[in-house]
Amino acid sequence: MSVPFILDECAHRRGLEKWLSIGYATAPHFLWSGRTGSGKTAAAKLLLARTILLAPSELQPIELTVIDPKEDVDFNYLNGLPHFYRGDEAPQGFDSFFDGFLRRKTNEDLSRNLKILFVDEFASLVALISDKKEKEDVQRKLGLLLSLSRSRHFSVQLATQQPSAQIFGASGSASREQFGAVCLLGNAGAETQQMLFDADGREQIKKFGSIGGRGVGWLSMNGGIAQPVRVPLIEDMEKLNKVIYDNLSGNLDERGGVAKP
Ligand SMILES: Nc1ncnc2c1ncn2[C@@H]1O[C@H](COP(=O)(O)OP(=O)(O)O)[C@@H](O)[C@H]1O
Ligand SMILES: [Mg+2]
Repeated sequence: MSVPFILDECAHRRGLEKWLSIGYATAPHFLWSGRTGSGKTAAAKLLLARTILLAPSELQPIELTVIDPKEDVDFNYLNGLPHFYRGDEAPQGFDSFFDGFLRRKTNEDLSRNLKILFVDEFASLVALISDKKEKEDVQRKLGLLLSLSRSRHFSVQLATQQPSAQIFGASGSASREQFGAVCLLGNAGAETQQMLFDADGREQIKKFGSIGGRGVGWLSMNGGIAQPVRVPLIEDMEKLNKVIYDNLSGNLDERGGVAKP
């Protein structure tokens, strides 16, 4: 149940193309981090599109929810689609995804396809909520999704500039280990590295030296040591956007299945 989505940078430097895969059965949750412009959104969209197109049939049709609390221009093309929530609608979108999880957990929903939540800046979603109790509620739900949803074919994919207390640290919220995969793009500060990788990984990063700019960075999967990776160059962003658009607009089975005549 794995989907190749990113390139091994060491192989790339030797002129080889080696893909690394996300394993949805064992480690479905993903955290993208890096400064603005490091390529998080592009990389995250590529993973989503490749999952929609390449995930094995037992996970199909992929059901995507996209939340854009910051109302980034990146997502303008999704305006008005079901399962796309932006700005003030972000908390509602999160609750709706969580309710879907509960329905499957209580066997009210007996389907087994993969449902993915992508939030581009989780901290911004939390910041949109003024009530302290409601804020804590969202963080508690994130913690539950990350710890319980693996075997139920749910995947939470977050992008964040700064892995902060909104995601880690606050009681009831997530820990680094709950994300099966953590990827830090671009050159980042020591504090960010500290939050995301263990001592062995950080040692590796230090030895390797500066990794370069946009779309290149470090990936740790299943608690493994961080390794250098490169996001493939997206030559046709419109095509990629269309895969996500079609999925959110209800054309679920991209591969020509039953969802659409
Ligand atoms: N792998 C890639 N292929 C093509 N263009 C990319 C790639 N990664 C980033 N870009 C482009 O670089 C710019 C910054 O990337 P973006 O994903 O928006 O960064 P971030 O979300 O970290 O701020 C965008 O214009 C994006 O389209
Ligand atoms: Mg972005």
